[in-house]
Amino acid sequence: MTIRALETSEVLRRADEIARVFQRAFGYSDERREHFRDTRLAYLPLYDGALTLGAFDHDRLVGFVYGFDYQPEHWWPQQVGPALVRAGHAGWTEDAFELNELEILPEHQGKGHGTALLRGLFERTAHRHILLSTTADPADRAKVLYRRLGFVDLLPGFRYAGVTEPATIMGRRRPG
Ligand SMILES: CC(C)(COP(=O)(O)OP(=O)(O)OC[C@H]1O[C@@H](n2cnc3c(N)ncnc32)[C@H](O)[C@@H]1OP(=O)(O)O)[C@@H](O)C(=O)NCCC(=O)NCCS
Repeated sequence: MTIRALETSEVLRRADEIARVFQRAFGYSDERREHFRDTRLAYLPLYDGALTLGAFDHDRLVGFVYGFDYQPEHWWPQQVGPALVRAGHAGWTEDAFELNELEILPEHQGKGHGTALLRGLFERTAHRHILLSTTADPADRAKVLYRRLGFVDLLPGFRYAGVTEPATIMGRRRPG
């Protein structure tokens, strides 16, 4: 297994492959895969501080993580920022990285790829904080993984406008 950063040009060139990992990790429809590829991936190069890491089995992409600088004018910070302030966590939004996606192909899960991608991200980002959104289910595998790697719950039971399922907003402070 190799973990390495993908240049923007490679993200765009491998957009189909990345979107397939996204689709299979969640069991999503083809339509959702195409939407992810044509919006989220296509616009990724426009985001300041965008960083994508891939996990490769030989040359095959089996997982990826990506994110960018937390910028208050973006969609997600607009959603969670006011709630973080209300909860007394305003400081977490300073010098922060927004971890947007982490997915591993189902047949490659449980082999340490997710852990390796997150550790790779910690090494390659200089931000004081990393913020992300995950499910509110305490047994969720991703959540267990994030906790193991130092993330804490900032907003448990957070509700996005118009979404019934609650989410958890988590954060990790750079050690030291
Ligand atoms: C969540 C996810 C990214 C984790 O990736 P992963 O590669 O399976 O994670 P890891 O293998 O590093 O760690 C997961 C587990 O495997 C175990 N593990 C790690 N290395 C292992 C190895 N060599 N052999 C066996 N098990 C191993 C870990 O102990 C860990 O156990 P735990 O989850 O019960 O604590 C992945 O399961 C996934 O893509 N899920 C669907 C999409 C998703 O939910 N994404 C997150 C959105 S917020």
